[in-house]
Amino acid sequence: MANKLGRNDPCWCGSGKKYKKCHEEFDNKIAWYKSEGHIVPDHSMIKTPEQIEKIRESCRINIAVLDYVAENIRVGMTTQEIDDLVSQKTAELGGIPAPLNYEGYPKSVCTSINEVVCHGIPSDKTVLKDGDIVNVDVSTIYNGYFSDSSRMFCIGNVSPEKKKLVDVVKECVELGLEKVQPWAFLGDMGQAVNDHAKANGYSVVREIGGHGVGLEFHEDPWVSYVSKAGTEMLLVPGMIFTIEPMVNMGTHRVFVDKDDDWTIYTADKKPSAQWEIMVLVTEDGHEVLAY
Ligand code: MF3
Ligand code: CO
Repeated sequence: MANKLGRNDPCWCGSGKKYKKCHEEFDNKIAWYKSEGHIVPDHSMIKTPEQIEKIRESCRINIAVLDYVAENIRVGMTTQEIDDLVSQKTAELGGIPAPLNYEGYPKSVCTSINEVVCHGIPSDKTVLKDGDIVNVDVSTIYNGYFSDSSRMFCIGNVSPEKKKLVDVVKECVELGLEKVQPWAFLGDMGQAVNDHAKANGYSVVREIGGHGVGLEFHEDPWVSYVSKAGTEMLLVPGMIFTIEPMVNMGTHRVFVDKDDDWTIYTADKKPSAQWEIMVLVTEDGHEVLAY
């Protein structure tokens, strides 16, 4: 963190206050962690109160779109119909689906069924069957601000084994969330996620992680869910990132579809589940922005 600001200069955060009365002590604290060998965030990862409020508005839309999917998703529906629900509702609320055309992604939402780990592409040929588990991953741009969260849906009569996977992954996210507080580390969260998955006999996907989000769809830091407590980036108030572990019933190994170059599958074709929330680090803990 390069800080050549004078103590009487206006603070970098845009508050209008003098640096010495605003973020000077904060920056010194971060510099101390850095000197101890920790990875620390730079100012670009710390959102201002104004930005946070705009991101919250985007999150409200993301949540409303997921609620709308929850009300309408049912057996026999195609994943293209889910895509239609998402694009219609997002437009109605004044937003733009962030996935559409993102790095060439062709649809407005990701729909990942059973052994599909993530980035499943909606299709009018893919029908939700009785017993499927499906992740619907919604991301919204609203007034230029980004939100991103996903939920699992159980279609019809789901086997107890798959239902347990879905429930345990939600617990993983909640246990990880408890570790999110200022001056803790991303690895504290990651280890909590991984420990709970492992305790249930599951494995956590390694190569695909979470991310900072808000001003862009995907920002630093990259977020692992197989990390160790006390490692990875220091958490400070104003950071926003996702907790979105992909947890597999069998092997952690995955592969990407050779034809579409998006869909990620488990290597052993056993089921995978994911929940995604967006969390803000606050002065005294955290706030869930989207779920
Ligand atoms: N929504 C995903 C995430 O949680 C990203 C999907 S990228 C897309 O980060 F292009 F596939 F939409
Ligand atoms: Co995400």
